[in-house]
Amino acid sequence: MTGRIEDRVALIIGAARGIGRGIAERFAAEGAKLVLADREEEAGRATAEELGATFVKTDISEMADAESAVATAVDIHGRLDIMVQNAGIFPWQLIENTSPADWDRVMAVNLRGAFNAARAALPPMKSQRYGRMLFTSSITGPHVTSPGHGHYSATKAGINGFIRSAALEFSSYGITVNGVEPGNIMTEAVKQQRGAEFIRSMEDAIPLGRLGTPRDVAGAFLFLASGDADYVTGTTIVVDGGQLLPEGRDFRILPA
Ligand SMILES: NC(=O)c1ccc[n+]([C@@H]2O[C@H](COP(=O)([O-])OP(=O)(O)OC[C@H]3O[C@@H](n4cnc5c(N)ncnc54)[C@H](O)[C@@H]3O)[C@@H](O)[C@H]2O)c1
Repeated sequence: MTGRIEDRVALIIGAARGIGRGIAERFAAEGAKLVLADREEEAGRATAEELGATFVKTDISEMADAESAVATAVDIHGRLDIMVQNAGIFPWQLIENTSPADWDRVMAVNLRGAFNAARAALPPMKSQRYGRMLFTSSITGPHVTSPGHGHYSATKAGINGFIRSAALEFSSYGITVNGVEPGNIMTEAVKQQRGAEFIRSMEDAIPLGRLGTPRDVAGAFLFLASGDADYVTGTTIVVDGGQLLPEGRDFRILPA
């Protein structure tokens, strides 16, 4: 433990499993007081119990749920220092097969969810004159994409624009707003939804030679949540094993 966020009160949304769970594990190990929110009750409660955290069932696409997650943190701990909005969905679906309802659901969770979380966390952070709002964006959308990620790419590019606006608006309240852009991170959801062929092709495209882990991503969140990032706002950190770097597919061909 480095003590960098010791006793800070953190609400992590989308924390039952995957990257959100990785962030929760890292924050718990650093001594933060945690409230975990997720729409999946069983897995969420199990994660919270393991980490000595409070769980609150939350669908982040609903403003009322975002507000009650924040209220839970404030009721129990008296304040809210760090809010991480990590919940996201990534159906793999060509644009020609995407219905307006499919499109709206991805927007509602990923993009409206970011707004709901920020809007709900604002009042306590504003009155404290301190807050860290953090969002899970992606390299997919802001920088690159692949077939089947139309709605998803739009939401993650949108989150980056929202981060910049919110950072500016909240700067005079002592609140910083930042995000992390993971590359391809090995989570259960990725294993189930993408399959072995997709994963092999991604491994091949990553200069560091492997998909990332939730712990790799959690380190960037810890930095942004800590005092080391006091002067950082309105930006995103790429955590992708170098995946964005190659100009072409054959980056392993070297000069003689
Ligand atoms: N895994 C990757 O390669 C990768 C890469 C870039 C970005 N991301 C982003 O990271 C985040 C987490 O991804 P993951 O791979 O860990 O996925 P995951 O499915 O394993 O975890 C997502 C968590 O969010 C919860 N969730 C989903 N919809 C919700 C809602 N409406 N309200 C509350 N909770 C909800 C899920 O129940 C789950 O616990 C997402 O925002 C995703 O877009 C993932």
